[in-house]
Amino acid sequence: MEADDEGRSPSGSVVVDLASADDPRAMSRMLRQQRVHTIEGMFHLLTRREDVEAALRKPAVYTSRPEAVQLGNIRPLIPLSVDPPKHVKYRRILDPLFAPKHMAALEDEVVTLVNQIVDRFAAKGSCDFHEDFAVPLPCTVFLRLMGLPLADLDMFLEMKDGIIRPPGATQEEQEPTRRRTAQNIYAYFEKTLAERRRAPTDDLLAQIMGSSVDGVQLTDEEILDICFLFIIAGLDTVTDSLDCIFGYLSQEPEHRRQLASDESVIPSAIEELLRWESPVPAVPRVLSEDVEVGGCPMKAGEHVMLLIGAANTDDAAHPGVDSVDLLRNPNPHLAFGGGVHRCLGSHLARIELRVAVREWHKRIPEYELVPGTVLQYTEGLRSLHHLPLTFAPAG
Ligand code: HEM
Repeated sequence: MEADDEGRSPSGSVVVDLASADDPRAMSRMLRQQRVHTIEGMFHLLTRREDVEAALRKPAVYTSRPEAVQLGNIRPLIPLSVDPPKHVKYRRILDPLFAPKHMAALEDEVVTLVNQIVDRFAAKGSCDFHEDFAVPLPCTVFLRLMGLPLADLDMFLEMKDGIIRPPGATQEEQEPTRRRTAQNIYAYFEKTLAERRRAPTDDLLAQIMGSSVDGVQLTDEEILDICFLFIIAGLDTVTDSLDCIFGYLSQEPEHRRQLASDESVIPSAIEELLRWESPVPAVPRVLSEDVEVGGCPMKAGEHVMLLIGAANTDDAAHPGVDSVDLLRNPNPHLAFGGGVHRCLGSHLARIELRVAVREWHKRIPEYELVPGTVLQYTEGLRSLHHLPLTFAPAG
């Protein structure tokens, strides 16, 4: 359906969901023709790289205060819905725990996990990549990292979906599931913290519990708020990215062979496909003061969506970004956001994605979509409902 300049369909409904678009690049191109789109009574959209980047770098104006993201949580999501200067305190605690060298130490374990997952369907010659691979991998890695029982996997997946993908077509319909799930998440981590105080462990959760800034330790409430955010920020996003990357490669055999025949291509290929697909296509902000962008006035208190997906393919800012180059370097994409709220888990995500792509292609270098499949992308965060793949049975 053709959208007008306001991003509305002829029937008036908003059709600016880049996540579920068959071709988000084409939709982005259309949206970028105008610097700002205003969806009356809802939010403004910033579409161009220059404007999105400038907004990400002004957190005092484009704030991440709690009303920017409401997902059933009764307290702030730490550090996502905390603005500077308090935000700095949390990042000073969390950044070292998610630093590249700590995340690199997980590599061997992720290799084992990926291969165990592939073992489940390799000999069959087919799988639903989304359900069989992209969903379980990040959640299993997270449970290991936090020292939580693997038996909790299904419960974690239910908690993640209850917040990010609750049943219902409207916010009102989704709200009861979100609230109930949020209570379950708080209760789960409250119980876990109490157990850990009785019997200390040696894992990421223990490190968070033991951290302090300027001699002050995090309170239990703050730790709960951090754990809550990890579930919604660190599981679905990696699933989405895996779906996007494998969905792309299953339809682009030349690029798939380029990467399968030379694993040194994988790190830059992942950055490029994160840029191209932008699994998190937009980040929300609330204005603290009146501003004007491109002659469009926006008022204090109004919501603004920064379209990082549209910014990532803005060829007016970076010529050549309207096509895929798996060797692109440098590649200053915004798929992990930018500014103070730039993704805390990017190094963890990169390890998971690189190992997944490398180990999969060692065992299954050739695969394709099951004939007749029409891929359907999900709303909000770009993943696939199903990704049925077929390949020669592998060992
Ligand atoms: C490829 C996978 C991932 C993508 C595409 C992604 C994307 C993003 C983006 C765009 C933001 C910025 C949000 C904003 O500015 O409002 C963000 C923030 C964040 N991400 Fe990720 N993320 C990924 C994986 C992870 C993982 C594995 C974790 C693990 C804990 C994680 C934890 C976080 C946290 C805690 C924040 C908030 C940071 C802050 O506010 O200071 N993310 N992510």
